Amino acid sequence: VAQRMVDSFGRAISYLRLSVTDRCDCRCVYCMPERMSFLPRRDLLSLEELDRLCSAFVELGVRKIRLTGGEPLVRRDVMTLVRSLSRHLARGALDELTLTTNGSQLSRFAADLAASGVKRINVSLDTLDPETFRTISRRGDLAKVLAGLDAADRAGLRIKINTVALRGVNEGEAPALVEWAHGRGYDLTFIEVMPLGGAQRERQDQHIPLTQLRASLAERFTLTPSTHRSGGPARYCDVEETGGRVGFITPLTHSFCDACNRVRVTCSGKLYLCLGREDGVDLREPLRRSPRQDLLTDTLQAAIARKPAGHDFVAVRRGGLSSTERGMSVTGG
Ligand code: GTP
Ligand code: 5AD
Ligand code: SF4
Repeated sequence: VAQRMVDSFGRAISYLRLSVTDRCDCRCVYCMPERMSFLPRRDLLSLEELDRLCSAFVELGVRKIRLTGGEPLVRRDVMTLVRSLSRHLARGALDELTLTTNGSQLSRFAADLAASGVKRINVSLDTLDPETFRTISRRGDLAKVLAGLDAADRAGLRIKINTVALRGVNEGEAPALVEWAHGRGYDLTFIEVMPLGGAQRERQDQHIPLTQLRASLAERFTLTPSTHRSGGPARYCDVEETGGRVGFITPLTHSFCDACNRVRVTCSGKLYLCLGREDGVDLREPLRRSPRQDLLTDTLQAAIARKPAGHDFVAVRRGGLSSTERGMSVTGG
């Protein structure tokens, strides 16, 4: 590898989270407003542009690419991109190509994903109760997600379930989710809800510190801290009774920014150096201005130097700062 991206705090960037669409077939309450307006087609990077951008990141030392959205599997011809990106796996330039999905389209895509070199995917699922599922996702269908998980199992994909912990909505279900996920051989991580997008008041009211959720799980299960790391911010515990692993992603109560290894690019080509910060760098214009890959890598190198130390969610919660207006569907999680 010729070059690496190292920010001004000495953190090497090895993980790209790339949003391929802002669209989704759900409208999860913590992610987007009920009546969402999506970007016009011309603002989106084409599949070729997304591919070129990934090549530049790989050239600069990125070893892991995660496709996100919106829902990545609703992007038209997304498999063309996945198949193309898998060439970096084949030549050993990339360790992992993966995606974070709501699972609704997995019945259709699981086999193709596995055939394209994807080994492991993260599936967002906050509840096993069909009505609670409707309440959270506003328009999702739990049965479709469960069928998608069956298809992913048949395809041999390893699965991590992501559950956003929401006070008064799904907190009581945590032990049942652990039993269910581990029974199916999945890892499970709980996520603290972050103050993104609108409805800040509601997000604050729904926030559960995961220390609390973990304590309630410890009444039912024997939890032992694990050294396992999946490359992201989750900290894991082994669960003796189930033989599985449960992870905790705690942006608010235990910041993990010191060890941040990632950047994000939106489907319109905006580079966000931190999930919790507004300042981004436009990559679409340089992508479209010149076909030269070296100019693109120069742009990326210069941008990485501006990566901030970390997010400000805690200050946001204390009411000291205005929140991040951008919902997760814009940035991709
Ligand atoms: P693994 O590769 O399985 O470790 O996945 P990951 O945890 O990196 O990715 P995933 O898409 O499963 O992330 C789950 C959620 O964790 C995201 O949607 C975010 O809510 C949160 N998250 C991941 N990375 C960051 C981060 O850098 N900062 C903050 N604040 N939250 C993050
Ligand atoms: N806080 C925490 N997690 C969120 N997600 C979406 N919005 C938020 C938020 N405000 C999660 C989803 C999914 C991933 C893409 O991001 O549940 O797991
Ligand atoms: Fe769609 Fe995921 Fe956002 Fe829900 S959290 S609306 S499934 S992108």
